[in-house]
Amino acid sequence: MEKKTLNVAFSTQKGGAGKTTLTVLVASYLHYVKGYNVAVIDCDYPQHSIAEMRERDLKTAMDDEFYKLMAYEQFTSLSKKAYPVIESSPENALEDAAELLKETQPDFIFFDLPGTANNPAVIRTLKEMDYIIAPISADRVVLESTLQYVVVINDTLVTTGKSKIKSIHLLWNLVDGREKTELYQVYEEVIEQLGFPVFNTFLPDSKRFRREQSVSHKALFRSTIFPADKTLVRGSNLDTMIDELLEILK
Ligand SMILES: Nc1ncnc2c1ncn2[C@@H]1O[C@H](COP(=O)(O)OP(=O)(O)OP(=O)(O)O)[C@@H](O)[C@H]1O
Ligand SMILES: [Mg+2]
Repeated sequence: MEKKTLNVAFSTQKGGAGKTTLTVLVASYLHYVKGYNVAVIDCDYPQHSIAEMRERDLKTAMDDEFYKLMAYEQFTSLSKKAYPVIESSPENALEDAAELLKETQPDFIFFDLPGTANNPAVIRTLKEMDYIIAPISADRVVLESTLQYVVVINDTLVTTGKSKIKSIHLLWNLVDGREKTELYQVYEEVIEQLGFPVFNTFLPDSKRFRREQSVSHKALFRSTIFPADKTLVRGSNLDTMIDELLEILK
C-alpha cells in the first residue's frame, strides 16, 4: 500500500524567523538528496517568496551554461523533475493541495503560511497539517511571541482533537556561534514545562543561508531546483536537522 502524504508547515507568527528559508532548504534536500518526492504550496499571498524564488532559480539556470549543465546532470541521475511549487493563498491552500493529489502522491507537502494566526483561513489550513515546526531564536521577544503562538495552536487545535496535527516541534534557528550558550538551557526549561519537544539540532546564524545561484557559480545553499551544496551543508547542521525531522515524520 502506498504511504499517505504528510502535510508539514514551518510556522510561527514571528516575521523573519526562517519559515520560507527552512521550507525551501528542507524541501530541496528531501527531494534531490534523500529520494523523497515533495511539493510546496506557497500560501504567502501576495509575497509568494518561494514561487518567486523558483522563477528566479529557473531563469538563472536557463541563462547560464554552468547551471544548465548542472540541472541536466541532476535530472538524468535522479530521473525526476523539480518539485512543484504552487502559488496559492491561505484560502485556497487545501483545495490546491487536493488538486495536486489527483496527479501525484508526494511523500510530503510543505505549506509556507503567513504568520497571521488570527486569519481564519490560516487556522483552517493549519488544522490539516500533520506536523508543525516552529523556528525559534534566543531573543526574549521572539521566543515569547512564538511560545504564545504554539500554545494557542496547541490549546485550540491539538488538545481539543479539532485538527490532524500530531505534534508541534520547536527548532532553534539563527543561533549565534558554534555552541548554544547557557541562556538556551534556561529557555529550554520553560519550553519543556509547556510540553513542547525541541529539536536537538540547532541551525546557526550563517550567511550561507542566503547563498543562492549566482553568476560567480560559488557553492549554493538555498535553491528550489538544487539541493544545498555539500561543502556548505557541512557546519550548517542542515543534514542532522533533516535526519531528526525524518525520525519525527516516519
Ligand atoms: N540560520 C540562518 N542564518 C542566517 N540567515 C538566516 C537563517 N535563517 C534565515 N535567515 C535569513 O533571515 C531572513 C528571513 O528568513 P525567511 O524569509 O525565511 O523568514 P520568514 O519566517 O519566512 O519571514 P516572513 O515572516 O517575512 O515570511 C532571510 O533573509 C533569510 O535568508
Ligand atoms: Mg516567509
